[in-house]
Amino acid sequence: MNAAQTLQPPPLGVRILGCGSALPVGRLTNVDLEKLMDTSDEWIVQRTGIHERRVFDREGRGESTRTLGVTALKRALASAGMTGADLDLVLVATMTPDMMCPPVACRVAAEVGAGHIAAWDVGGACCGFVFALNSLAAQMRTGLYKTAAVVGSDTLTQHTRYDNSCRDTAILFGDGAGALVFQTTDDASRGLVAQAMHSDGSCWQDLYVPQHVQDFYGEVDESLLSTVRMNGRAVFKFAVKTFQDLICETLDMAGIQASDVAQFICHQSNARILSAARDRFGIPEDRMLVNIGKYGNTVAASVPLCYDELMQAGRLHEGDLVMFVAFGGGLTWGSSLWRL
Ligand code: UT7
Repeated sequence: MNAAQTLQPPPLGVRILGCGSALPVGRLTNVDLEKLMDTSDEWIVQRTGIHERRVFDREGRGESTRTLGVTALKRALASAGMTGADLDLVLVATMTPDMMCPPVACRVAAEVGAGHIAAWDVGGACCGFVFALNSLAAQMRTGLYKTAAVVGSDTLTQHTRYDNSCRDTAILFGDGAGALVFQTTDDASRGLVAQAMHSDGSCWQDLYVPQHVQDFYGEVDESLLSTVRMNGRAVFKFAVKTFQDLICETLDMAGIQASDVAQFICHQSNARILSAARDRFGIPEDRMLVNIGKYGNTVAASVPLCYDELMQAGRLHEGDLVMFVAFGGGLTWGSSLWRL
């Protein structure tokens, strides 16, 4: 055995053992929005596919990015037949941490009963969950961590205003959380097969949340501090193109066709963006879940919410190839192809 072999243990496989999700109790329907701003149920459904979204309630119900994340992870652990004490890594993908410090992941890990394990947050906006998934898979394949969880939890409605000044974003976003639990296996064929992660910071101004007056792109409006600013048309065009480019890139890397993928598990940003990708690749409806109608765009939570819904419906099976795809602020875009 030469030195190189001793330094490179065979890569391990990674299995997804469990999943769970959590949604706030509060609902905001298109009819509710009609009363708050100049919009209509018909316009929203036609342009986005959204009927209602869930909205967290910090004061009344004590809901937060953390509490939703804890509930989702507890459910994922229960479905995996595990407890928090089994975990050795927790990543929380979020762009809405409850506080700048501590990381949400540390409190989530503590509240599910984990020991003094590695726990940190991952940014990446709507791509956060997919970026976290790829970095977790890379670390688990080397055996660095054996049992781990990724949580996507966001409460972006707190950075949205429900009036005419923000009607393009007010209709889109909702709150929620989803979590997946992973474990290494000697079967190296399972787990991450291919991945792609990209960013283009020169387009940052198409989707951002200004925290200071100096952050504004173009006109400064102090009343919009801490409020999502979005160039909807630009993001839409970017998303339609990058979604399709990403799918092509990932299929090519793995040397497979779209028809080999059992499920495309996609960030839910706009039903029209998803249906454009379906048309381009000839993906049947039952291979790309669209649940944006019920939840809106839940940022880092949307991908694990889809995974959990597919699992509950019995639509994911051992050995399936599934592709996670997302894009969002940054601008960022990323994919993760897994063999379940
Ligand atoms: O995770 C990434 C997050 N972001 C996205 O994925 C967003 C991607 N973009 C979109 O989903 C779409 O651009 C929107 C849904 C935001 C907007 O739809 P659109 O078809 O691109 O509309 P538009 O921005 O081209 O606006 C068309 C018209 C405008 O009126 P005029 O200028 O034609 O008179 C808007 O003022 O629709 C108007 N409009 C609305 N009307 C009713 C904008 N928002 C609304 C609204 N209700 N809520």
